[in-house]
Amino acid sequence: MFKSAFEIRKAYLDFFRLKGHAIIPSASLIPENDPTVLFTTAGMHPLVPYLMGEPHPMGNRLADAQKCLRTDDIDEVGDNRHLTFFEMLGNWSLGDYFKRESITWSFEFLTDKNWLAIDPTRLFVTVFEGDDAIPLDDESVEIWQAQFEVHGISAETGVAGKDEPAVNTTGSRIFAYGKKENWWGPPGETGPCGPDTEIFYDTKKGHDSKFGKICHPNCDCGRFIEIWNNVFMEYEKKGDGSFVALAQKNVDTGMGLERISAMLQGKASVFDTEIFRGVFDAIRVLTGYSYGDDPIHDRSFRIIADHVRASTFVIGDSHGVTPSNVGQGYIVRRLLRRAIREGRRLGIKDPFLVKISSVVIGEFRVSYDELETNRKKILDEISKEEEKFGKTLEKGERELEKMITKGDVTGKDAFILFSTYGFPLELTEEIIHERDGVIHHDVFEEEFKKHQDSSRSASARMFKGGLADHSEETTRLHTATHLLHRALKNVLGDTVSQKGSNITKERLRFDFSWPEKMTDEQKTAVEKMVNDSIQKNLPVRVEEMSVQEAKEKGAIGLFEEKYGDKVKVYTIGDDVVDFSTEICGGPHVKQTGELGSFKIVKEEAVASGIRRIKAVVTG
Ligand code: SER
Repeated sequence: MFKSAFEIRKAYLDFFRLKGHAIIPSASLIPENDPTVLFTTAGMHPLVPYLMGEPHPMGNRLADAQKCLRTDDIDEVGDNRHLTFFEMLGNWSLGDYFKRESITWSFEFLTDKNWLAIDPTRLFVTVFEGDDAIPLDDESVEIWQAQFEVHGISAETGVAGKDEPAVNTTGSRIFAYGKKENWWGPPGETGPCGPDTEIFYDTKKGHDSKFGKICHPNCDCGRFIEIWNNVFMEYEKKGDGSFVALAQKNVDTGMGLERISAMLQGKASVFDTEIFRGVFDAIRVLTGYSYGDDPIHDRSFRIIADHVRASTFVIGDSHGVTPSNVGQGYIVRRLLRRAIREGRRLGIKDPFLVKISSVVIGEFRVSYDELETNRKKILDEISKEEEKFGKTLEKGERELEKMITKGDVTGKDAFILFSTYGFPLELTEEIIHERDGVIHHDVFEEEFKKHQDSSRSASARMFKGGLADHSEETTRLHTATHLLHRALKNVLGDTVSQKGSNITKERLRFDFSWPEKMTDEQKTAVEKMVNDSIQKNLPVRVEEMSVQEAKEKGAIGLFEEKYGDKVKVYTIGDDVVDFSTEICGGPHVKQTGELGSFKIVKEEAVASGIRRIKAVVTG
């Protein structure tokens, strides 16, 4: 009855509205006040303060469809199941109902003829088996048994042991597993968590013995699909690793919209649903290839569809971010560039991402009106990034041509193309392959990786430094950042430490540990100290030394290299006294006078204990 993602999303929210839930809009994909994660990865994420006891303005029963982005598996996207962006349907009890209602309503929504009408004999569930500290979740077992029995499905054998197969007609429906499978959270190091119960759909696909002798809900053979997770958040994980009971018992459920859609439509893959059809049609028009005709092309179709959808949502978010070299912006850049490369694989040479993104906006704007509001920004940013990457590719190709003319291109050359021009390894390989027909991938990649590893610590530092590019403006702001860092330590004390840095052509942004708002006096003192150093026109020197030597010199910065590694140390000072000494990848100006004058434009909180300064240099 409810088949399309749009219909399922609506049915879900209608159902929980009828059960007394307030429907809340999706929170931003960019977490507010949480520096521990780049993106919202689950529906409960924006609700953490309320799960911890803060009252929610909409009440204690909530439901929503939340925009989520998981970046761990970017490189896995392309197979028929991984996604970066997805929507998570969820319902929450903030100290209100608990296991009984949660399980009963899940069962009703899934199986009732008026709702999803799934055949109950297709459902299997799992519960937490308990450990030394926390007992078996027998309350959930008992509730599930009662639910199955209503449908005449015997669950009288109780909880199945690990070695019992899941049988569709007899035997238990309820399987118990340990923490790995049936415990959720906390989303960071500490926070709300608890045992969960997961609901699986039996596709009835035959078991593949490659995955073990017997088949059971968490078997990897593909017979079972996990469709819904109900977490009973009754614990808080503390910093010392212990679990204490939360003051209120919460429910947090999550159901992936794409996956339940595929299941209800009888499709093996989320990419076979209507969710991606519009985008696939657009790619067909551009390439002449159809989705489903060739597994190699299909992979490219899927990567483009997923990555452009994700980028469209991230840029179009109410706290949207744009492609850059740091943080969330770096992820958007990676997604878009990967999509461009896949486009090239399909033979698309001209810019095309705007076309794909327009399709995404068209299809999702009804449910997410921010996409319509931010349409221009989304398309402009995508177009700019595509142009920029196009130039990178052109430049890299020209350099590669020169290398080919000179002779054999090695893995080291490929690394130079990558590190200096941002030219991807696989394109180098592709081009050489086109010319010569043969390439020894393994040797080539091994050489490439060797060079990559030895420069990784340096580039990690550069990302930490957060430089968007090496233009004159960013270089000046980068030097200003060192002066600011030192001045903050001088004014506020040595406990101040860098928590993040991001530099664009227009401004620097510096995050640092400090528990409270800076006073006007403190800000003025910091500004003055930086400006004094600028007026003295201090020289900036760079030296290479071991980590040990840098430490002895009192350099600030990140000491993350292995023993024996050389680091670059930038010192700003005259021959009497060094004002600032910092480990850094550079680049910097030669004399501080080049900075003109320095001004703090904003000082604000970004997270508990972390302040952010935005500042500019002029003149
Ligand atoms: N937090 C759980 C999950 O993400 C349920 O919402 O799966």
